[in-house]
Amino acid sequence: MGTSNRAMDASAGPGTVVFRVRRFDPDSDGPSDIRWSEYVIPAHPGLTVLEALLLVQEEQDGGLAFRYSCRGAVCGSCAMVINGEVGLACRTQVSSLGNKVMVEPLPNLPVLRDLVVDMDVFFAKEESVMPWLRPSDPDPECERLVSPEDWREAEPYTNCILCASCQGVCPVAERAPDYLGPAALAKHYRFYADPRDGAGEERLRLVDNENGVHGCDMVWSCAKICPKGVPPTKGIGKTRAAIYHAKKAREGA
Ligand code: FES
Repeated sequence: MGTSNRAMDASAGPGTVVFRVRRFDPDSDGPSDIRWSEYVIPAHPGLTVLEALLLVQEEQDGGLAFRYSCRGAVCGSCAMVINGEVGLACRTQVSSLGNKVMVEPLPNLPVLRDLVVDMDVFFAKEESVMPWLRPSDPDPECERLVSPEDWREAEPYTNCILCASCQGVCPVAERAPDYLGPAALAKHYRFYADPRDGAGEERLRLVDNENGVHGCDMVWSCAKICPKGVPPTKGIGKTRAAIYHAKKAREGA
């Protein structure tokens, strides 16, 4: 076993898998700052891509950089491109990928090193949609209660783990860096639809523009890729409808 920077010259023997990992070294200038490394690792049933990368890091290449925390599809840290598809490394079984696995960083975000992308802009967009409750009624003596029926609309959007997989597959995010993106717009709808919130009009104004809900191509790639079943496109469509009805109501007033 070993590391190679040549293109796919390692081959998988029985019970092994070749991992080809895209590398980026920010301290290296010129064409050598992006390269590929290959590692042959022993595979066993149940091995995930994240566990394989940890094996590489522990036994073959301590310099390989990637992000993870929970190992259980909760923290959202380990999204990357695996054999051409965006997915969570901790939830992807190596056995489902064949004996050659290509791993790349998440698209549409700046790469800091190897598989680690810069999430600062992603989180800034999340924050820009006012992701906190703004009730308009006086504070109650105890917590604000919501019935299961009233919660049903907002509930799917609360499952986001901020992995940015949706950002990685969004065609608008690829061509328009200022677009808020599916995760932020899903978060926006989560609070707009929250029955305890009272800032609806202000919330609609925040995203009533081309970098907001009107920028979406409505191709549903974000909803299809989300590991938690959050449907950003559906929320964007509902927000557009709410903006339309709010304008109509103002015109009729
Ligand atoms: S390590 Fe937390 S989601 Fe994969």
